[in-house]
Amino acid sequence: MDTQFWQQRWREGITGWHEGTVNAHLQSYWPKLGLPAEASVLVPLCGRSEDLGWLADQGHEVLGVECSEQAVEEWFANSGVTPERKPQGALEVWSEGKLELLCGDFFEVDPQDTKQVAGWYDRAALIALTKEQRCAYAAHLRSLLPAGSRGLLLSLEFDAPAGPPFSVAPAEVESLFGSWCQLERLVESDLFETETKFQKRGASFVLEHVWALETQNED
Ligand SMILES: C[S@@+](CC[C@H](N)C(=O)[O-])C[C@H]1O[C@@H](n2cnc3c(N)ncnc32)[C@H](O)[C@@H]1O
Repeated sequence: MDTQFWQQRWREGITGWHEGTVNAHLQSYWPKLGLPAEASVLVPLCGRSEDLGWLADQGHEVLGVECSEQAVEEWFANSGVTPERKPQGALEVWSEGKLELLCGDFFEVDPQDTKQVAGWYDRAALIALTKEQRCAYAAHLRSLLPAGSRGLLLSLEFDAPAGPPFSVAPAEVESLFGSWCQLERLVESDLFETETKFQKRGASFVLEHVWALETQNED
């Protein structure tokens, strides 16, 4: 799944992942990270999620990364604000107030651009990627996050054919992040009855896991 695949999805309006409201787990569990309001928060593969505005409303500087210019444009249009735009390496920054959206490929984000980051949030980013991409994603995230950064990760586990979204079992989350983050599984929710699209794909269970992570100091 390359960036063109996602850009096409946005063009065709096939955006079933978009919640259209602030994620309930984000609201419940973000405060548990204990990040100060002034902390800057990285949101990889952010789409045009309402979660971005919620994080900014908590006082955070928010740095989202999204490859679809349409999604970025729609985020600002829906917010009724006009962003400034300027090139930044291989990407383009769209910024207004506390929010900066880097439009381009997450894998092109330079660690220089995230030096100020102290928090991160992943909903439907890791699970949007293939197994090979997930390894590259975790490695790139590691290169971008300063030591001590704290994050909230939402992962989905189910037994249905390949996505996106892809099933990512807790063991894989532990293998991707466990060597460089302290990991705590905060909750496991059963989504089988509510997320009927997985039943249609043949799943017999659907679980959502919420994780709190803290980047450890490099030795
Ligand atoms: C499943 S959606 C989730 C969006 C958002 N996190 C949410 O909760 O609504 C994945 C998003 O990642 C974007 N995306 C996929 N690959 C990307 C990449 N390599 N770099 C930046 N954005 C990417 C897609 O355009 C899409 O908007």
